[in-house]
Amino acid sequence: MGKIVIAIDGYSGCGKSSTAKAVAKALGYTYIDSGAMYRAATLHFLNHYLLASNPHDVEKGLKTLEISFHLNPETNIQETYLNGLNVEDEIRTMRVSENVSQIATIKEIRRELVAQQQRLGRKKGVVMDGRDVGSVVFPDAELKVFMTANLHTRSVRRQAELLEKGELVDLEDIKKNLASRDQVDSTRAEGPLKKMEDAMEVDTSDISFDEQVKAIVDRAREIIQKQ
Ligand code: DC
Repeated sequence: MGKIVIAIDGYSGCGKSSTAKAVAKALGYTYIDSGAMYRAATLHFLNHYLLASNPHDVEKGLKTLEISFHLNPETNIQETYLNGLNVEDEIRTMRVSENVSQIATIKEIRRELVAQQQRLGRKKGVVMDGRDVGSVVFPDAELKVFMTANLHTRSVRRQAELLEKGELVDLEDIKKNLASRDQVDSTRAEGPLKKMEDAMEVDTSDISFDEQVKAIVDRAREIIQKQ
């Protein structure tokens, strides 16, 4: 049976990555977190005091940036590595979240990361989540999903995730961060977040996690069968 590409885009914090992971598991596909790549690039720039606003710094930063994913055999989850170091936890901190949107507006950085993402999905059988996966990375993806959820629901979920990792953050600060990332992500010139006409919309505010995963897996199976 032919393999397909599933592109899952949507606003920050609406559960894209946990949904994409579960969809990938159900289908035996590989999950790729494109946001993790923008986060790793952001950490790299922060660690080396490189400024995204300075073209020389961008060039230098891209030359020394190496992002990869490796499976953690204990958890069976792909973890993000930056220049050989496991940065899976560090890229989820507020320090990175507060700087990532700016990094993600830079054309040269997007071009490089999009090219890497396209290489990772070349053989199909992947579920990739992000903002521009269905529009720029894989405009021919067989299944495009656009996920939404209201700001309050998203903020509460994000707060719980951070708390689980030991970071206690005020709900209002999270709301501000998500709202400002939504604004930057959907208005930037390069690869803005937008719902594609051929995307299946899934609003996760009031449905259970299992329901949203099932809706996507069912649609994917229908498409795979017709291949
Ligand atoms: O999915 P996330 O919240 O981990 O993504 C972090 C940031 O990366 C998000 O604010 C916007 C950016 N991003 C992007 O511009 N394009 C993508 N395909 C994925 C993420």
